Amino acid sequence: MGQTLPKPGLRPFLPDDVPVLAAIFAASIEELTGDDYNEAQQQAWMEAAETEEFGKRLAADLTLIATLEGSPVGFASLQGADHIRMLYVHPAVSGQGIATMLVDALEKLAGGRGAKSLSVDASDTAQGFFAKRGYVAMQRNSITVNDEWLANTTMKKTLGASQ
Ligand SMILES: CC(C)(COP(=O)(O)OP(=O)(O)OC[C@H]1O[C@@H](n2cnc3c(N)ncnc32)[C@H](O)[C@@H]1OP(=O)(O)O)[C@@H](O)C(=O)NCCC(=O)NCCS
Repeated sequence: MGQTLPKPGLRPFLPDDVPVLAAIFAASIEELTGDDYNEAQQQAWMEAAETEEFGKRLAADLTLIATLEGSPVGFASLQGADHIRMLYVHPAVSGQGIATMLVDALEKLAGGRGAKSLSVDASDTAQGFFAKRGYVAMQRNSITVNDEWLANTTMKKTLGASQ
């Protein structure tokens, strides 16, 4: 008999989750974005989790946590009604549909908040993931993070009646 993979769960963010989410954030940048950003850029991006602002944003946004057997393995956050601010999945479980589950849920929540469309400033690493879900590139951005320039792409999806 084949082994059954544990089923992922979803739950809301709690203030005590900040350290584990900071660890997922750093691991995901370090191990998954190396083809798209150089080491100095990755380092600057990872350091964002060491600021007080990181926890404040998670608490201010509607943040969802994906779990496997009760442990957080990824998270995503909705800023206001119509902007995905964060989406990070632990490299140990990437490619298993965790981000899909998180973004499915955020699209429904955005629809519930009255959003007609949803936007994201997608990293170059995540651009293919969002394109596959119907997000369309609108503009290219260069942002400074801890004195490093990082490129991303504003992408937008119109939310349909099914969301
Ligand atoms: C982008 C990211 C969130 C994807 O998470 P994931 O849990 O591995 O994604 P899923 O398993 O749900 O992938 C769903 C589909 O998208 C595809 N996909 C995932 N990442 C992709 C990528 N970089 N390019 C193209 N397709 C991608 C998968 O192949 C899968 O396709 P399938 O359904 O045909 O098998 C993850 O790679 C990550 O955390 N990256 C680093 C941090 C980052 O850049 N975050 C985004 C900030 S905006």
